[in-house]
Amino acid sequence: MKSISKLGQSIQPSLTLALTAKAKKMKSQGEDVISFTAGEPDFNTPENICNAGIEAINKGLTKYTVASGMDELKEAIVNKLSSENNLEYTKSQIIVSNGAKHSLFNVLFALCNEGDDVILPSPYWVTYPELIKLVGANPIIIETSESNGFKVTIDQLNKIDPTKVKAIIINNPNNPTGAVYSKKELEDIGNWCVKHDIYIIADEIYEKLVYDGINFVSMANINDDIKDRTIIINGMSKTFSMTGWRIGYIASNNDAVIRVISGLQSHMTSNPCSISQYASVVALEDSDEFILSMKTTFEKRRNLMLSLVNDIKEVSCEKPEGAFYIMLNIQNVIGKTIAGKVINNSIDFADVLLDEAKVSVVPGVGFGAEGFVRLSYSISEKDIEEGIKRIKDLLSTMR
Ligand SMILES: Cc1ncc(COP(=O)(O)O)c(C=O)c1O
Repeated sequence: MKSISKLGQSIQPSLTLALTAKAKKMKSQGEDVISFTAGEPDFNTPENICNAGIEAINKGLTKYTVASGMDELKEAIVNKLSSENNLEYTKSQIIVSNGAKHSLFNVLFALCNEGDDVILPSPYWVTYPELIKLVGANPIIIETSESNGFKVTIDQLNKIDPTKVKAIIINNPNNPTGAVYSKKELEDIGNWCVKHDIYIIADEIYEKLVYDGINFVSMANINDDIKDRTIIINGMSKTFSMTGWRIGYIASNNDAVIRVISGLQSHMTSNPCSISQYASVVALEDSDEFILSMKTTFEKRRNLMLSLVNDIKEVSCEKPEGAFYIMLNIQNVIGKTIAGKVINNSIDFADVLLDEAKVSVVPGVGFGAEGFVRLSYSISEKDIEEGIKRIKDLLSTMR
């Protein structure tokens, strides 16, 4: 048989989804697994949002909408950007897609030619490099450091040859590190992009989950030149605990980008689910209480997790300011032996944790961060306490 597409074969399956599936399978077989792998809030979608979806079904609002998203939802997004982010866009500058992941692919497709470079600070969310490769572009990874809060600096950017760079992806707050960029840090990055005519893909899907009283600042909010080059990515998944509803969106004042994505989406998927779009209008307009309560819960869990983890002498963790993940530094574990197995890397560590302690975590290598594992605190306090205790107990046997 003739071989299948080289491009298709170059895509790596998502490591996070694979591990979540393995932990789920063990659980379904009756094993008492504590899973720190969740990439979604462990809250139900609020009732008022669910009811809006049910109402849409009952009213027969179950037909095609405009391919780029229905007017009512675009209007709610425009209002949200104006009132919450102090950003003015028109409805024609918004495109609603089947989740932010889909929005990201669309944007990369619209911007990149074969051979373009796309800057991606590491640690990064596992999907970015694969999407960059999928459109024929090259991920240019810039390794950030734990001591700098896992944030890319202007000094690092100044060392890059910008000639072939089409775009940079700034994920703020960041998955997997929880890093949150300050206004000044965004300004430095944004001005560098303006200087070299580089697009900024600003993935702000965790914007509502920032702690310690920090104010989230959108990249597009710094100045008009930066806004012109910024394409905002956002969505319903994390803010409203609507991961299964599949609604994401972009905002951009670049007409060409909007035109290309509208056309692409009209052929590839048509509109995102009409029911989810109706529910998303209610989500955007009436969720303040839910968001506050989810954020308060996450902040409490983060603090609990940090205090427990920092009580384990073999590993360490800096304080993340956003999202719902911590990056556990396991560099002192590499080369040591646990349960008779030599730990050579983050995959070995994740494996031994799952096999010996029934705790599942995500190896850092998938995020371009060898020497770390990611733990999600999107689980109950009781499970956090039990899971970290198991890690501590297992590490105490390390030789
Ligand atoms: C940084 C980041 N961007 C985008 C997404 C995708 O979200 P969606 O469910 O809207 O596709 C995720 C989901 O994990 C994420 O972590």
